[in-house]
Amino acid sequence: MIIAADSQALSEGLQALRAQNTTVGLVPTMGNLHQGHLSLIQQASNATDIVVVSIFINPMQFAAHEDLDTYPRTLEADLSALRNVGADIVFTPSSSDIYPHGSNNETAIHVPLLGDALCGKDRPGHFDGVCTVVYKLFQLVKPDVAIFGEKDLQQLLIIKKMTRDLKLPVDVQSGATKRAQDGLALSSRNQYLSENERALAPLLWQTLQHSAEILAASPANDARPILIAARKTLEQAGFSVDYLDLRAISTLSAAHDATQDCALFAAARLGQTRLIDNIQILDT
Ligand code: PAF
Repeated sequence: MIIAADSQALSEGLQALRAQNTTVGLVPTMGNLHQGHLSLIQQASNATDIVVVSIFINPMQFAAHEDLDTYPRTLEADLSALRNVGADIVFTPSSSDIYPHGSNNETAIHVPLLGDALCGKDRPGHFDGVCTVVYKLFQLVKPDVAIFGEKDLQQLLIIKKMTRDLKLPVDVQSGATKRAQDGLALSSRNQYLSENERALAPLLWQTLQHSAEILAASPANDARPILIAARKTLEQAGFSVDYLDLRAISTLSAAHDATQDCALFAAARLGQTRLIDNIQILDT
């Protein structure tokens, strides 16, 4: 496994491995790898000849008050997990390599509408940071396939749109959300939860599942009472709900019922920890 600590080393590593007709897969991460990331890497290695994993805690997607400084950094453990899963190149650039002019002074990519809703509304600039770094990674790695998790469904939809709009020659694929046995979606931020909060956290997924079942059973019914009841369940248990909405998957515009392709999206806080999750509504 090649560890490339800057973009020069990445380009040399890629040159050494890439032969004619060799396909390259990219899994962008911010490190602190868990089973969710490893399953995306496995998926990439089934789809392409060479797998590049980037580990970069992207300052551009964190607001000043967010957890950039405390975000878990576990490079040694990440590297041994990556050796076991068969990654070919791990790209671990510094911030100045990715943003030579500083992350506040560089051209940013904004995906309108999809990027302004839900988490984009609560975290202004977040998706500009995500899109900008993903675009830069695409330019550096030139992957044939890039894989993103469905847990961040809004991020996935935004990256797909950016790739389409900018005509980037990358096949953006998605990987299913990995969950703990009790249903909580795996996330690096779960480790911020206290013991009590961790015990409560699976209620987010249970509530989404329950609401999705009701919506799927009567798709033409008004979704509002179901959303109100779901929010109440979470708030009564101690969550502070940022949003719990039914949205059309193509546009992320509000859906009043489940007669079109849509998903329930939720972001809710337990103490200082913000959890996000989603569920697509499937016909029963
Ligand atoms: O999902 C993440 O971990 C990040 O947003 C990503 C895609 C690696 C960009 O920094």
